[in-house]
Amino acid sequence: MCGIVGYVGNKKAIPILLEGLSKLEYRGYDSAGIATFENNKISITKDKGRVKHLQELLENHSSSSNIGIAHTRWATHGKPSKVNSHPHLDNTGKFCVVHNGIIENYADIKKFLMDNEYKFISDTDTEVIPNLINYYYAQNNFLQAVYLACKDLKGSYAIEVLCQDYPDHIIVVRKDSPLVIGTSNDGNYIASDIPAVLSHTKNFYLLEDNEIVEVYGNKLNFFNKNLEPISKKTEIISWDESAIEKNGFDDFMLKEIFEQPKTIRDTIGFKLDKDKITLDNIEFSKEFLSNISKIVIVACGTAMHAGLSAKATFENLCRIPVEVDVASEFRYKNPLVNKNTLAIFISQSGETADTIGALKIAKEKGATTLAISNVIGSSITREADLFIYTHAGPEIAVASTKAYTAQVTLLNILAFYIAQVLGYIDNKLIKSLKEDLFELPNKIETILENTEEIINISKDIYSAKDAFFLGRGIDYPVAMEGSLKLKEISYIHSEAYAAGELKHGPIALINDDFPVIAIVTDEVLASKTVSNIQEVISRGAKTIVITTENVSKAFNYIIKIPKTNQYLTPILSVIPLQLLAYYISKEKGLDVDKPRNLAKSVTVE
Ligand code: F6R
Repeated sequence: MCGIVGYVGNKKAIPILLEGLSKLEYRGYDSAGIATFENNKISITKDKGRVKHLQELLENHSSSSNIGIAHTRWATHGKPSKVNSHPHLDNTGKFCVVHNGIIENYADIKKFLMDNEYKFISDTDTEVIPNLINYYYAQNNFLQAVYLACKDLKGSYAIEVLCQDYPDHIIVVRKDSPLVIGTSNDGNYIASDIPAVLSHTKNFYLLEDNEIVEVYGNKLNFFNKNLEPISKKTEIISWDESAIEKNGFDDFMLKEIFEQPKTIRDTIGFKLDKDKITLDNIEFSKEFLSNISKIVIVACGTAMHAGLSAKATFENLCRIPVEVDVASEFRYKNPLVNKNTLAIFISQSGETADTIGALKIAKEKGATTLAISNVIGSSITREADLFIYTHAGPEIAVASTKAYTAQVTLLNILAFYIAQVLGYIDNKLIKSLKEDLFELPNKIETILENTEEIINISKDIYSAKDAFFLGRGIDYPVAMEGSLKLKEISYIHSEAYAAGELKHGPIALINDDFPVIAIVTDEVLASKTVSNIQEVISRGAKTIVITTENVSKAFNYIIKIPKTNQYLTPILSVIPLQLLAYYISKEKGLDVDKPRNLAKSVTVE
């Protein structure tokens, strides 16, 4: 979704801002814009289209400005167009704003301002912000005017503001939308996402909701929600800059698929170092866990599939009922959670609006909330009572791959840990689970060494209009994830079904060469899924089977994957599905990393 970059320092701002915007392209956007000070006047360049287009517009722009704000817009209010692109000015041209998020009460504010003779030229919610600041500026200074305007805003926002009267200042504020400030001897770097400015610094201030910062020269003044001065500490971000480069791969998605042996190793980390399983920064007592009567796992999209994949581990090993829910549903259904609930929220970005909203509801109802995120200091980790990080490194491709397998790995480790504390698993089982976990990266490498067959399948089925993914038991959530990956990046319509459900309706759609991709790893249920595959073969389907078993040669394609512990199998069986989606998208000549209409981090409801 929208991205923000800003810079104040002793270097030229425009190259830093453009570089930052291009690092944010992965988030998904439709317009881009920049504002700097040229000859002490605010100068704006913006248009719909890619950052490259903005770069071309700025090519003959001889700028010496060492202050600026920049934005990539993902349209919410008003179609993608030059006038709707950010930055936006107030009526007098004094205040210039870029904004991520949504102002929910913008219509009321707009009416109020129009009654006070303000005029509007765009369809955006954002345009009310510079005008409201202007309204308060009549009686206040720049900082106070921004503070007072923000007090009137409802919704989510991360904003940067320039003021004609303060040519060396940027004021930034965040509420329910991420914003960080990286700091170095060369200046201060503002960004909605750390990767945008990671090449300049690893020292970051992570802003809390309603904090306001005055950035000028090499100085930073922090204020709390009452505009009282506060002090903040920086955090060192350990991400390696090469993690946000393609490093010889054609696309980030392929690179991230191939990084999985490493990311699984890093996520396992030292949690299994000694005889026991330990977690990075969480310790549960047996007494606490004995009082937990239900676990709820809440997330969106791929992260929700990770929850579904781990449900069986929690239920079988910890003997605690588990509900997995979509965050956008959970938050509005008056969920049945209380002080005896452990509520787990999974989010790669840690900024997904629905997941954060759901977490707040569970917290209000007294549940113990635990966040699993891939981004240090992300909003979800700050909202939750407890948090653990996956160690997948920055995920740039919109379609999640390495973060998903890291989430499934971490959830399984969490389940093993809870079962251990509750005394449900003995040392022998712990030892064997640990061995299986340690062997996972090598097994992933084996799958990644054999991509040829998957490339062949892609060439065969890439022109299909529809596809089905089937699985039973532990294989069903993997089918759901495979289906989501395929539709996201290849635009092929696909559905996932519990294999036994097919004949209750969907089988009506099967005809000649209809691709059916089945996952068959559950030893006990394998023969039943195989029978369901036979049923679609009889109706002309083209079948692709991902399996650990020795299955019938009647299928069009069989991809054999190594065996592991049943709970960990989803971490292996999803990999051929990620590759299949990737190669089909490539075969169709699509932009794998930036699929249409999608955004990496969904910070609006
Ligand atoms: C799909 C995908 C999305 C995300 C979902 C949640 O490939 O990436 O479905 O999983 O938008 O995002 P996070 O995990 O950042 O909360």
